[in-house]
Amino acid sequence: MEFQNLLLEVDGGIAVLTINRPKALNALNRETLAELAEALDELGSDDEVKAIVLTGAGEKAFVAGADIKELAENSALESNDHSKFGQSLMDLIEDLGVPTIAAINGFALGGGLELAMACTIRIAASGAKLGQPEINLGVIPGFGGTQRLPRLVGMGRALHMILTGDPIDAETALDWGLVTAVYPAEELLDQARKLAAKLAGKSPFTLRVAAETVRHGMEMAFTEAVAYEASQFGLSAASQDYQEGMHAFLEKRKAEFKGF
Ligand code: CAA
Repeated sequence: MEFQNLLLEVDGGIAVLTINRPKALNALNRETLAELAEALDELGSDDEVKAIVLTGAGEKAFVAGADIKELAENSALESNDHSKFGQSLMDLIEDLGVPTIAAINGFALGGGLELAMACTIRIAASGAKLGQPEINLGVIPGFGGTQRLPRLVGMGRALHMILTGDPIDAETALDWGLVTAVYPAEELLDQARKLAAKLAGKSPFTLRVAAETVRHGMEMAFTEAVAYEASQFGLSAASQDYQEGMHAFLEKRKAEFKGF
């Protein structure tokens, strides 16, 4: 795969996909959004790829948002289309089936935070800043932020962030559960790779069922959600990896998962 705005490295089942527009703080223009969709679609259907790390090039930004130069030219109808286009990428990431880790190495603002929130897990560098500053541009988050942010941090904190536009630092993001770990900047990518390697050692099938059950279950009423959990539990138990995991434990050996 050849890209203008992305760097892709795949090693030992782990893909590191870097958004590479450092002069624009890795802002997501249309071309980058389309390239991300192409790259992730391809990686998601490659059985060899067990986990994907998403990060930004340079030391300053993960992604500083949707590209404001492009947004400024859009009519209302084009803005609506743009929002749907960005949302479809975020949905693709969330539904990819392969776990994605956002390694937030600096500013994750607007569409950048929305991209990180579509990932399965988020970790950050200690100097990172996360926010939805769209209000300062006379617009609202449009790549799913109004919905994923309250689901991750609660409505009060989401409204505070979206209405003030003020970013939070990595430690606050950790405290609020928006990220699950914070590391010194120089360690972030190694830690992301380590986490990816840990996930790569599990059953890809069971990982997928677990993530789907949490995500879809959260959208249901509790009684419906636990019924769904029971059927997903049954689904995971129908796999060869279930047999392998159980027997490996009983035989005191490391499980060799196959992904089915
Ligand atoms: N779009 C396009 N270009 C951007 C950008 C963006 N989102 N963010 C930064 N850049 C560009 C700047 O224009 C600048 O380019 P030039 O050198 O050509 O002038 C370059 O990146 C470096 O940026 P700054 O000089 O501004 O760097 P700084 O250190 O002074 O400030 C910053 C950093 C606080 C992140 C600041 O760049 C900033 O506020 N960026 C915009 C953040 C933002 O509002 N994001 C939301 C976008 S809207 C959105 O995402 C909608 C949605 O939900 C889909």
